[in-house]
Amino acid sequence: MAGKTVKISGPLIIAEGMADCKMFDVVRVSEKGLIGEIIELRGDKASVQVYEETSGLAPGEDVVSTGEPLSVELAPGLLTGIFDGIQRPLTALYFQYGARISRGVFVNHLDREKEWRFLPRVEEGDRVEEGDVLGVVQETELIEHRILVPNGIRGTVKSVVPEGEYVIEDEIAVIATETGDQSVSMLRKWPVRRGRPYREKLSPDHPMVTGQRVIDTLFPIAKGGVAAVPGPFGSGKTVVQHQLAKWADADIIVYIGCGERGNEMTDVLNEFPALKDPKSGEPIMKRTVLIANTSDMPVAAREASIYTGITIAEYFRDMGYNVAIMADSTSRWAEALREMSGRLEEMPGDEGYPAYLASRLAEFYERAGIVKLLGSGDRTGSVTAIGAVSPPGGDLSEPVSQATLRIVKVFWGLSASLAYKRHFPAIDWLISYSLYADRMKEWYDENVGADFFRCRQFVMTALQEEAALDEIVRLVGMDALSAKDRLTMETAKMIREDYLHQNAFDDVDTYTSMKKQFLMLRLIYEFDRLGREALASYADVNDVLACSAKEKIGRAKYIPEENLSEFDAIVREMNAEMKALAQGGSEDV
Ligand SMILES: Nc1ncnc2c1ncn2[C@@H]1O[C@H](COP(=O)(O)OP(=O)(O)OP(=O)(O)O)[C@@H](O)[C@H]1O
Ligand SMILES: [Mg+2]
Repeated sequence: MAGKTVKISGPLIIAEGMADCKMFDVVRVSEKGLIGEIIELRGDKASVQVYEETSGLAPGEDVVSTGEPLSVELAPGLLTGIFDGIQRPLTALYFQYGARISRGVFVNHLDREKEWRFLPRVEEGDRVEEGDVLGVVQETELIEHRILVPNGIRGTVKSVVPEGEYVIEDEIAVIATETGDQSVSMLRKWPVRRGRPYREKLSPDHPMVTGQRVIDTLFPIAKGGVAAVPGPFGSGKTVVQHQLAKWADADIIVYIGCGERGNEMTDVLNEFPALKDPKSGEPIMKRTVLIANTSDMPVAAREASIYTGITIAEYFRDMGYNVAIMADSTSRWAEALREMSGRLEEMPGDEGYPAYLASRLAEFYERAGIVKLLGSGDRTGSVTAIGAVSPPGGDLSEPVSQATLRIVKVFWGLSASLAYKRHFPAIDWLISYSLYADRMKEWYDENVGADFFRCRQFVMTALQEEAALDEIVRLVGMDALSAKDRLTMETAKMIREDYLHQNAFDDVDTYTSMKKQFLMLRLIYEFDRLGREALASYADVNDVLACSAKEKIGRAKYIPEENLSEFDAIVREMNAEMKALAQGGSEDV
């Protein structure tokens, strides 16, 4: 039975005669069949957010419930895909020519005709339970798509198809369960607003290495961790997110362009296909799913986009992968929420955002984590979530930033003044933090070097001392500083300019392995240590600061990964030079 529209307010319509419907049911509106979702039910009146342009709708049009919640389709065909906020496929052309999907057109989210080579991993008679691997499809050169026993199913494999080419709706297995035989294909559906189940959440203690020095060294993120990148206009939020999508050592990337300008999405679409995965040389698109809901697309679909994205991320997690999801920007998402709330005439909270802003944000980030997976065997998978936040004017006291800060464990605060000085990434070391760092010490000790954390501490201390000394220099000038303090200032400057500054657009500098990060850090650490030794032997501080190795340290970031042996030579040279200064100093005495 169809309800009727009584009011249309932008992306929100009110329909009556909807008593039979449930919250969050997907509905079709008017004969155009526009897709919407019930977000409020009062008596027989339903408020529906419509994911498509509502212009031209009038009162009295039909509203029909599909009886199903908003869901995503999960099967081979997700990777390399570009989807809108409710997972309708977009082509790259969309962003160049703005060719819109015609309204209400029913499109399958995933290709029904494409054949995939399915390789069974179970045999007739095997006992299986939800989450077990039934078979695999090599979806792209980089990723094996694991077809799992659907949620809620446990039983014995009654039949399974032999290796061969199948489309996603073909039956690939029959599982005999207590309640009867279940036919299983490669295609799953999952309601986007419900987290996919797992056995147990684990504590994140391995880093997701990003190749971005300020992140990996000072403010690392764990696999399964949650981070926010707040920053004012033009401070580099998008570049940070892109760098992570390109370089982070995640198996799968889900990138959500959420309410940002269309041209930023075009950048992604132009750049990503050309980028090669550093490990395999394959285009990184082969492990990426893009979701785009740019500022010119309907606002309600933007609200849905982050749920669509995180559900896809969880699906790959359930195969045992480490997935990273980026949302740029969660502020634009919150604005969509605010707009819908305003049209619903809900009681506004802070700055007009609905009172449930914080809980909605938390619901999103809580779906990240490293988990023990369902199914037999001891398998884990993770979702790491990184959200950009764009506070108006860069003022972090606004509601979206505040709510986000209470949830995330890593905070990469971008500062306008660093961006203005063109220090990129403009992650401000004095305000940023990572609550995972201490837990990951063991990993760094084992995988990078026992001294790495000591170097890290040295960097933090030097930067803090610099901030304190800056005050004094401002008041009385550099000359008032002791020789040791001048060395500290120089060391801190090297840390900032030669280490933390990293050019995303330079072929070598764009990515630094952990090994190279450690070598670079050690150079600066040794400079400081040898410098202090020289000063203790009465070397002239000006000579120490003029040490010619400094220039080499400045260029170390451009040493390619395959020439890391050059670092030893620089250390040796610096050693000799500083020792000579120290001797020169003591002879003068
Ligand atoms: N790591 C980097 N290396 C070099 N340049 C950078 C880096 N990060 C940012 N930039 C420069 O800063 C500019 C703005 O960055 P970006 O677009 O990421 O900012 P944003 O915070 O996303 O801005 P908006 O608020 O408009 O979304 C870039 O176009 C680039 O020139
Ligand atoms: Mg941006």
